[in-house]
Parts: sequence; C-alpha cells; structure tokens
Amino acid sequence: MAKQSVGWITFQKRWLLMLLVVFSISTAIVFVIRAALDSCDRHFEDADGRIHLTTQISSISNPLGFMKSKLVLLVSHELSLSGGPLLLMELAFLLRGVGAQVVWITNQKPMETDEVIYSLEHKMLDRGVQVLSAKSQEAIETALKADLVVLNTAVAGKWLDAVLKDDVPRVLPKVLWWIHEMRGHYFKLEYVKHLPFVAGAMIDSHTTAEYWKNRTEERLRIKMPETYVVHLGNSKELMEVAEDNVAKRVLREHVRESLGVRNEDLLFAIINSVSRGKGQDLFLRSFHESLQLIQQQKLKVPSMHAVVVGSDMNAQTKFETELRNFVIEKKIQDRVHFVNKTLTVAPYLAAIDVLVQNSQARGECFGRITIEAMAFQIPVLGTAAGGTTEIVVNGSTGLLHPAGKEGVTPLAKNMVNFATHVERRLTMGRKGYERVKDRFLEHHMAQRIALVLKEVLHKAKGHF
Ligand SMILES: *[C@@H]1O[C@H](CO)[C@@H](O)[C@H](O)[C@H]1NC(C)=O
Ligand SMILES: *[C@@H]1O[C@H](CO)[C@@H](O)[C@H](O)[C@H]1NC(C)=O
Ligand SMILES: *[C@@H]1O[C@H](CO)[C@@H](O)[C@H](O)[C@H]1NC(C)=O
Repeated sequence: MAKQSVGWITFQKRWLLMLLVVFSISTAIVFVIRAALDSCDRHFEDADGRIHLTTQISSISNPLGFMKSKLVLLVSHELSLSGGPLLLMELAFLLRGVGAQVVWITNQKPMETDEVIYSLEHKMLDRGVQVLSAKSQEAIETALKADLVVLNTAVAGKWLDAVLKDDVPRVLPKVLWWIHEMRGHYFKLEYVKHLPFVAGAMIDSHTTAEYWKNRTEERLRIKMPETYVVHLGNSKELMEVAEDNVAKRVLREHVRESLGVRNEDLLFAIINSVSRGKGQDLFLRSFHESLQLIQQQKLKVPSMHAVVVGSDMNAQTKFETELRNFVIEKKIQDRVHFVNKTLTVAPYLAAIDVLVQNSQARGECFGRITIEAMAFQIPVLGTAAGGTTEIVVNGSTGLLHPAGKEGVTPLAKNMVNFATHVERRLTMGRKGYERVKDRFLEHHMAQRIALVLKEVLHKAKGHF
C-alpha cells in the first residue's frame, strides 16, 4: 500500500515539475505538454461524465471508429504552433487513434526546416502519421487514392491547382474544407474558387459560417457547399490540469509569485497574441476605468491586477509600445503585467480569477482560450461578437460587452461587478465549467466531426 501511494506522489510531483519547467522555459518546449495527447484512449467519458476503462472496446464505441483503415490526406497551409495547424494535428491523432491511415502535407514550407517544424513532424511520425512533401508525386497519388481529403484553412486552397492541376475535379468530391478564419483577405478567388464543388465545409462557429455564406455570395458570387458548424473541444490533458486541484494550487502560487500578485488579489487576464484585433488596448482602458470607479465610489474590494499574456515586442512593437506607454502614463505599472507569448496557458489559467476575451470587430472565429478558461472555472468577460457569443452565456457563465470603444465602460463596470460580487463571479465560473463538461470536450468535438466525416464519405462514394 505504502508503495502505491509513494508511486502516486512521485508521479504527481514529476508531472507538476514538468509543467513548471515547461512554464518557465516557455514557448519552444510547448509541445511537451501537447505530447500528453499520447495518452490516447485508455479511457473515455460517457454522457454522464463517468470514466470507463475501454482499452478493448474503444474502437467500437469511439464515434470515429468507422474511420478505421480509411486513407485520409490532411493538407495544412503551414506547420507551426498556431491554432490552425495544431488543430489539424489533433484531428490527425484522433484518426490515428482509431486506426485510420493518415498522410500529412504542408503546403507552405520555408526553405530551411526550422526547429519547430522539425519537432512537429517528428511528433507526427512517432504517432504513425506519414509526412509527405506537398508537391511530390506521392502526394498526388495519395490525393487520388484517399477516401477523404481535408484542406485546412482557406489558404490551403492554393495547393489544389498548383499541385493537382488537371486532377482537381477528381479530388474535389471527397474534399472536406475546414475553415477557421473570418478576415477579408481570405476572400480571394485564388484561394477559394473550388469551394462550391467540394463535399463540404466545416466551420468553427455559426457566426463564421454565416459570414462566409454572406461574403462568398456578395463578394465572389460563388455559393458555399454544404456547411457544417463544428464547435471545438478541450484536449484531455488540459482537462486533467483543470480538474487537478493540487496542480492548480501549485501553479497558481508559482505564477502569482512570479508576477508579484498576492493570493488574495483579483487577477484579470487577457490571453491572446498582442495585436489591435485582440483588443488589449481597450482592455487596459477598461481596467484603468474600473480602478477609477472603485476609487470614486470608495468600494471595498481586493486589490486588482491585470495580466496581458501574449506580449511580442519583436512582432508588434508599435502597438505594444502604445500599450506600455498607456500603463506608464496612467501610473498603473504595479497593477499591469506583461507576459511573453506562450502556448502553455494552463499555468496562467490556474492563476487568474477572470478571463477577458476582448477580440474586436467580428470577434473570434471560435476562441479556444474561452473554453479553456471555463474548464478552470474562470468566468469570462467577452465581447458580444463572433464565436464568443456561442460559448459564453451572458449572465450565466460570464458577461458580454459590445466590441469597440463603446464597450470600454461596460467592460469596466463588469470588472467592478465581479470585484464586488464574489459569489456571483464564482458561480459563473462553476457554470462555465459545467457548460464545458456538457459540450466542449474532446469527445464532443470528435462526435461532431464524426457526423460530418460520415456524410462526406457517403457523398464521396456516391460520386464514384
Ligand atoms: C449576413 O447577411 C444577413 C442579411 O444581409 C445579415 O442580417 C447578417 O447579419 C449577415 N451576417 C454576417 C455574419 O455578416
Ligand atoms: C520576452 O521577449 C523579449 C523579446 O521579445 C525578450 O527580450 C525577453 O527576454 C522575454 N522575456 C522572458 C521572460 O522570456
Ligand atoms: C448581457 O446581460 C446584461 C444583463 O445581465 C445586459 O445588461 C447586457 O445588455 C447583455 N449583453 C448582451 C450583449 O446581450
């Protein structure tokens, strides 16, 4: 018995240590955590949230089980640590998990292979994903033979004509086009002219799907194919940290100490690459305004802090300088903290009290950080735009404010609201967690994707 508990503690410690190491070394090592994806399918959870051991029956009960021994070609526009490629890799591993034959090609590759690409490719090779050169004869043959071809993001459309040439019409009926973007410059015929002829489009939110429908019709005069909205889900390893109170406590202490924020302080975070579209400037204005409101109304609240995770002084120098100057000008340097861009968000989610999702204009296509925060029982203050409105239930799992300048004061008031109503804030966090358990887990996403793949396979078959 003693042995067992020691083993458990050792495991627990090692695991925490790994997280902390990853946390302190930051970006480059990120996929160590993602490597935990390897824990494929020992268990899965049923609708009641109970854990079942399913080593034997997993291929029967896995919603993607019907993909066993199917040949799938995944076409990625690039290979990097950004959301699109990582999501496609998750799909690759889900499919490998049920015994599908998966081939990956990267359309845009820099001349010399960098470290990130090298690691990601090796991670895929380790998991039995075949990696081919995008322009090779093998890639063309795979496309012709495949049961299913997934194009990831609008830009990947360039690969079709460039490589398949005359064979394009033969491949289109088995193409599923996975789209994660909602910006004007993607609406180019050069990228998407084949869109009307593919088997289906899979899009991360209803808002984005509607936007694509409008824009393709109005701008390009083309019609969207059958479109499926598939909300994303949280990975198993993120849920493991989110549901481990010991890990969360250690990470919380560690991060707060590194920022100089005390345990009893109230910490608001915005976790996105720093850029105007993500609204860090407006967030800081709201934060400043909330401090003024508290002072004017002489409210008794914990000391408030803001952390901007996603700093990138090299890439966003002008905008970020603007942010940092604002902080100095308002004399809130001791309240506002900047953290470099990282994909290892779990430690920050463990450390914060409120997530602010302040994406501007049309908002997020989906906004994965939102469901990740909710997994940590963190309430969300989000812009009423894009995918956020499909994730956050206003008044239940968070509060929504308008995008743009007119959202600054409402957000400031919502921040004060959360500072003065502790119980309301905590309840919203719990409700958010319940919502994640209900619909934003990996197996929910797998179920939704399975329905789409089934239809697309069916259509592709009917075509030949
Ligand atoms: C799409 O167009 C309709 C009608 O013109 C409009 O009501 C709707 O807001 C548009 N949706 C998006 C996401 O642009
Ligand atoms: C953050 O990034 C900047 C450059 O963008 C770098 O100079 C700095 O050392 C980084 N900070 C940490 C803590 O890694
Ligand atoms: C969110 O709910 C609050 C009341 O709880 C309301 O005042 C606000 O207008 C709502 N915002 C949106 C965008 O629906």
